[in-house]
Amino acid sequence: MGIVKNICCIGAGYVGGPTMAVIAHKCPHIKVTIVDLNAERIAAWNDEDVNNIPIYEPGLSEVVQSARGKNLFFSTDVEKAIDEADMIFISVNTPTKTYGLGKGMAADLKYIELCARQIAAVAKTGKIVVEKSTLPVRTAEAIKNILDNTGNGAKFQILSNPEFLAEGTAVEDLLHPDRVLIGGDTDAEGKKAIDALVEVYSNWVPEEKILTTNVWSSELSKLTANAFLAQRVSSINAMSELCERTGADVNEVARAIGMDSRIGSKFLKASVGFGGSCFQKDILNLVYIAKSYGLNQVADYWEQVVIMNDHQKQRFAANIVKTLYNTVSDKKIAFLGWAFKKDTNDTRESAAIYVADELLNEQANIAVYDPKVESDVVYRDLNYLDTRSAEQNKLGVSISDDPYTVCKDAHAIAVLTEWDEFKAYDWQKIYDNMKKPAFVFDGRNILDGDKMKDIGFIFQQIGK
Ligand code: NAD
Ligand code: UGA
Repeated sequence: MGIVKNICCIGAGYVGGPTMAVIAHKCPHIKVTIVDLNAERIAAWNDEDVNNIPIYEPGLSEVVQSARGKNLFFSTDVEKAIDEADMIFISVNTPTKTYGLGKGMAADLKYIELCARQIAAVAKTGKIVVEKSTLPVRTAEAIKNILDNTGNGAKFQILSNPEFLAEGTAVEDLLHPDRVLIGGDTDAEGKKAIDALVEVYSNWVPEEKILTTNVWSSELSKLTANAFLAQRVSSINAMSELCERTGADVNEVARAIGMDSRIGSKFLKASVGFGGSCFQKDILNLVYIAKSYGLNQVADYWEQVVIMNDHQKQRFAANIVKTLYNTVSDKKIAFLGWAFKKDTNDTRESAAIYVADELLNEQANIAVYDPKVESDVVYRDLNYLDTRSAEQNKLGVSISDDPYTVCKDAHAIAVLTEWDEFKAYDWQKIYDNMKKPAFVFDGRNILDGDKMKDIGFIFQQIGK
């Protein structure tokens, strides 16, 4: 395999879209086609107005604009793109299984297998297949089996190239990655395939940041990285509960330990709990893999990170009920933020969903404002839980694109996402229009406590 000229990426989601847009932007000599079965999503990527692309990420519209129609294409014609490509990235979703063996724990690999079968059926010439999705360790073996046994005799090389971008900073992370990880076979053909992908990234990533390993190390490193990051959040959140009982301040504790260069300051922000499509999914997957090898202590150790996170979300909701005199029935609770973190419109596994669910069980009326999340997404998230009917969710939850309307006549405000704009609100005005006493539960520790208390709010933050 020589220099790559034509790339296809299967899956135009939060990873496939931004990752391939940056490759196209940085490698004008490579034609990049992103394909997806979801015609609506592809149409949105192709929308004439580049601000209407389906994913909100700072800087993404500009990157897409720079390459779209030149060497970056979005299409539903999966077969044509596979046929034409020298290198195929698989970037489809790998959610937690909701059925059968491993239900609620293992990664569902049905979309991955479908891609492998489609590649095998279509490919007439040799191709490099790159796992971009996050996968259980040893998945490459299964993909190789399918490609070799169902194909037309074409030769395939499988690489693992997990993605480490975080949502909200995806473009920046892709332009300046801490490292790019490429796992491949250690024989001569494997090394050639690795070199071909290294060559793509070296168009903008310094070579010392491009790390090559065997396939299994690469696959497992991705799960390990997410487990370590999530573990830090659960660790500081565990401390936040102890802080609340002892008079310590979790922000001060985080600062004090973060200045130890062995610990470091990142991922020590106490919060209502981590969300996002990957931390929980990937840890549960890791737990499942460990169990499948009979490594029960390893599995239990990592499972605790998820258990702690569930506890944090649950106790945030329980504290609201307790503080509002043990009842929120028919009380209006305003939610500022629904996305799982700032600067994204992604709500998957957002803590807000679970806090809302608990409060709806207590018959609260919830009003939601999020600067980037559409109202139908809020209802979809709640309906997906299957706790109550869609009609009941409609009755219990209202959504507005004006934060002041959402907070008007509320008994309490819960800050669920750390959007910067919340800090700049006219909090005096919000206070004046709320029921008294007016409560604010800052689940992200972003507001100025002294200022809020001076205004008259009864104000609580995590770990204080
Ligand atoms: P996503 O759901 O946003 O996108 C996946 C897309 O794949 C969907 O649009 C779906 O329609 C499409 N798809 C599924 N099967 C297909 C098929 N057979 N042919 C064509 N299209 C198909 O998911 P995502 O957030 O982009 O995540 C993708 C993978 O990347 C997951 O394994 C995830 O764990 C991993 N990952 C995600 C992030 C993140 O920040 N979201 C970061 C790193 C890694
Ligand atoms: C995470 C990882 O950071 C990425 O490296 C990885 O590629 C990605 O998962 C993935 O595999 O999907 P992401 O979930 O997009 O990225 O966002 P993070 O910044 O990691 O935040 C995850 C959650 O943890 C958010 O809800 C965030 O608010 C929360 N968090 C994060 C905290 O509560 N405290 C912190 O200190 C940091």
